Amino acid sequence: MPVIAFVNQKGGCAKSTTSVHFAYWLYRQQHRVLMVDADAQRSSSIWLSSMDADPPIPFEVLQTPDELLDRIPELTAKCEYLVVDGAAGLAESTRAILFRADLAVVPCQPTGVDLRSASDAVRLIRQAQSVRSGAPEAAVFLSRAVKGTKLLDEAIALLSKSDIPVLKTVIYQRQVVADTFGQGATVWNLAGKPASDAATEFNNLFQEILGMVP
Ligand SMILES: Nc1ncnc2c1ncn2[C@@H]1O[C@H](COP(=O)(O)OP(=O)(O)OP(=O)(O)O)[C@@H](O)[C@H]1O
Ligand SMILES: [Mg+2]
Repeated sequence: MPVIAFVNQKGGCAKSTTSVHFAYWLYRQQHRVLMVDADAQRSSSIWLSSMDADPPIPFEVLQTPDELLDRIPELTAKCEYLVVDGAAGLAESTRAILFRADLAVVPCQPTGVDLRSASDAVRLIRQAQSVRSGAPEAAVFLSRAVKGTKLLDEAIALLSKSDIPVLKTVIYQRQVVADTFGQGATVWNLAGKPASDAATEFNNLFQEILGMVP
């Protein structure tokens, strides 16, 4: 079953936030989902443990490139979707994930520094694709964007010239999204318009992502 990985060596670009929301979005649709937490900070596994989902969303913490390469195939056989939350900084872990993923999604904040780091992630994706005869599929999306800023317009223009597909949905910076981790929740579990607006954005993003799964 497909392995969908959120990767970018740049810290803080929303890998864990997006991967936990994606896992929960699939779970809400009754899919059997399993999460792999590849980050030593263990944000996504701590987050899933603190959620009151019944039954809980299962996860595995795989912290080394060897564990990722060795165990992902066996875990994939146990679920309908395997969602991987990539680690910050660790190129070798990211490389191992890219050797096992069917789809790599790169969250990227719309700043110069972040766009540069995303191009490092794209480079690792290209290397994996050249070894694996084209796999994994890959796409970038803009995360934590601030509405109406010049930076966002520039980032969209720059990414549209890149050779990697750019998802149409932009995920905006919202306090309600920042609050979800601390509350052991996702935006679907929170009340109010900011939460439902964020839920609509995530819903759009995840439909685009599913549409790219090979
Ligand atoms: N759309 C958003 N609006 C507001 N805050 C957000 C949004 N997305 C993520 N954040 C916040 O940004 C911070 C970084 O997000 P997250 O931990 O998901 O990134 P990451 O890429 O997993 O980081 P790391 O590389 O350290 O693992 C967190 O405090 C999170 O709550
Ligand atoms: Mg993280």
